[in-house]
Parts: sequence; C-alpha cells; structure tokens
Amino acid sequence: MIPAPTTAPSRTVLPVAAWAQGPYIYDADGNDYLDGSSGVLNVNVGHGHPKVLQAIEAQLGQLTFVHRTQFRNDPALRLTERLLAIAPATTATVEYSNSGSEANECALRLAFAYQHRRGKPQRTVVLSEEPSYHGMTAGALSITGSPNKRDPSVEPLLGQPSGNRVLVRPKPGRRRATHEEWAQALLGVGPSKVAAIVIEPLGGASSGAAPIDIATMQWLRRETRNNGIVLIADEVMSGFGRTGKWWACDHSSIAPDILTSGKGVTGGYTSLAVTFVADTITAAIAEPLGPIALGHTMSANPLACAAANAVLSVIEDEGLLSNAAQTGGLLAETLTTLCGRYPTLLSDQSGIGLMRALHINADQPADTNKRIIAAAKINGLVLCTAGIGKATNSVLVAPPLNSTLELIDELAERLDKALAAVAGIGADNA
Ligand SMILES: Cc1ncc(COP(=O)(O)O)c(C=O)c1O
Repeated sequence: MIPAPTTAPSRTVLPVAAWAQGPYIYDADGNDYLDGSSGVLNVNVGHGHPKVLQAIEAQLGQLTFVHRTQFRNDPALRLTERLLAIAPATTATVEYSNSGSEANECALRLAFAYQHRRGKPQRTVVLSEEPSYHGMTAGALSITGSPNKRDPSVEPLLGQPSGNRVLVRPKPGRRRATHEEWAQALLGVGPSKVAAIVIEPLGGASSGAAPIDIATMQWLRRETRNNGIVLIADEVMSGFGRTGKWWACDHSSIAPDILTSGKGVTGGYTSLAVTFVADTITAAIAEPLGPIALGHTMSANPLACAAANAVLSVIEDEGLLSNAAQTGGLLAETLTTLCGRYPTLLSDQSGIGLMRALHINADQPADTNKRIIAAAKINGLVLCTAGIGKATNSVLVAPPLNSTLELIDELAERLDKALAAVAGIGADNA
C-alpha cells in the first residue's frame, strides 16, 4: 500500500485526487487516504465497485437520456419497483430529482399542495429544527437551522421574513429538541397554521450524528397525524442503509408522510435523489386540480437509475445493512475508547450504525474539529466536520457500508495519531 502522506496539506490548497478504489482515495503524489467519511456520507459501497461500474458502462452504451414526459425507461421502472419494496410503509409513490436539496424542495411543494388541495391554504408554516441542514436551494435553505449556512447576503433569496418558517431549538447545551420543545413551538404557532414539520431523524452536518430520541420521534408522528400536519423526514444522509436499517426512521418504528433521500442511493457514482410520498398525500393532490409539476430535466434519467439499481443490488447481495450494524458497533466502541484516551479534546461519541461522530468538549476552541480533520488528512484519513456551536461541534466518522472490521481498526489507528497530534502528545503515550 502507498504510504500515508507525511507533510501537512495546506488548509486552503486541497490535494488533487487522482483515483480511488474501495475505501481508499489516492492523490496525484501517490499518497493514500482512507475515506473515513465515505465522501460526504454518500460513497456508501466504496469507490470503483466493479458491479456498479459494469452497470453504468452497460447503460452508457444503451440509453443515457429520455425525458420522462416522452418515454418511460426500464432502469427507472425497475428502480421505482425496488424503492417501493423498501420504502416506509405509508409510501404510495416516489418522485425523482438530482440532489438532496431538490428532494426537499419537492417535499415542501407536496406538503403545501396537500394542504391547499384539502382546503387548508392557511396552513403555511413549516417547523424545522436548529440544528439542521436541509440543502442549499432556496426552499431547503429557508428551513435549514444552520446559521453558518445562512449568510445574510442570501436572505433575499429566502423570501421576506413572514413568520412562516419556525426553528425549534433545544435547550442550550443539548443537541436535539425534545418533544416538550416541539410541543411548545407548535402551540406557539397554532397547529391549524402548520403545513409541515421537517426533521432529520439522525442529524448530520449540523448536529454531528445526533439522533432524535425515540419518544420524541413517536410523539412527532402522533401529533402531526392528529393535527393534519405533514411529517417530512429528511434522510438524505441517513437513508439507504447508513444506520444498519434502510431508514433511520425504522429505529423508532415510525413511517413519515414524506421521506427524502439522496447521496447513498447512487453511492456517489452519479446524481439522483428520491422523495417518497405517502398515499394520503398523493390521493389529496390528484383531486380536484390534478398533479402539480415536480420534476427536473434529468429526473429519473436511465443512467442515474441504472447506477442506483446496481448500488441497491450491492447493498442487498453483500448484506450491507447487517454489516453496517455490526461494523458500526465496533466503530462505536472504538470511538468511545478514543474519547477516554483524549478526554481534554473529546466529550463523547454518538450515532447509529456507520453514521457516527466524535463530539468536541465545549471548552475547546471552536476550530478544534477543523484541526482534527486537518491532522487526520496528514495521517491519511478523510473525515468531515459537523456542528453549529459548542454543543454540536464534532467530527463525522462514517466509512463505507462494506467496511470490514480490519478497516475499522486501520481507521482507528490513523484517527488515534491525528488526535494525539492535536492533543500535543504521542499516540503511544496518550
Ligand atoms: C440531511 C441533508 N439534507 C439535505 C442535504 C442536501 O443534499 P445535496 O447536497 O445533495 O443537495 C444534505 C447534504 O449534506 C443533508 O445532509
């Protein structure tokens, strides 16, 4: 194996990636990097998987584009059938787009249309959480609870502040809101004005793999159903097996009205995102005005759908849900050990399956997670920063779903060296 880099990559000049295979990325100088964050939690079956490459190459030679208003195509038909088989129980149909942001835009349009069509146009408020991240397009950004993503200069894009986007915040020092905090926000707005509640069942870039507790998830499901509010689960990051089950919602045994996902559906081989829509919503929207416009030029294109079919086959054939649960267990133990070894830097670890994070102690400087990421890079390990403040500052650790137990050990070794460097001690003496 090519040795890990020994010199610090510049903070601003990133290494040039030359090629990648399995869980490793190689730069133009021949250094190897273990992909400890699966890209940005999307390269779920690793790089250069032969079965995915084969499927994409075959599709390239056969048919790469037809528009969904002109033709149906086999890869999309097959993918829809397969997605419906693994979808949350409420799902009646799936809508395709190109990115997680677009999948969330689609979810918002559907939620508003649903309320409008059933005679509730006054339901215009959307409740979401801070911390949260839902994407960079205008609608998705308007419900995102990450102040660092909402630069004041882009506020005009998000519409006049009209009180119809409400962020629910946990108590200071906590990572996720409890059902009491959701209840207070809901009462404050008045449930009859609320169109949708959007949640990340397992937080990602904003909270650092912090889950909503099961009681709160179940409370949200019950209250939204009782009050005619659409429950949207954003599983762009946590979906498609990342947590050891198809959906993070499955860990709380709830099915949302709309579930959005992206990233892992094509494993980073091409762009595709999915919005799963419940029968209650499709039924209301079909009548009396007919369906609303949702798609994009490249929605459900045959090439992306062929890649997604191949990735789903890899997940199923290689047993990657149970592998993510098993290796995720070892990763959790490893991260807990590292927290014990570097108590000054780290408070705890969180997450489910192979979507995990190391949390930085609140008394550490705000850029500590960035320093750990930089030190990891020097030690041949790629990770992602997460968090929007003291309670959530963290480092996401999320290797591909086909990671072996040995790979987790190798990741731990590289991470240990990085943490020792940031803590200012030798890893062996830590
Ligand atoms: C939970 C969540 N929602 C939405 C998005 C936006 O997805 P995309 O970058 O594909 O637009 C992301 C991306 O990281 C995400 O993690």
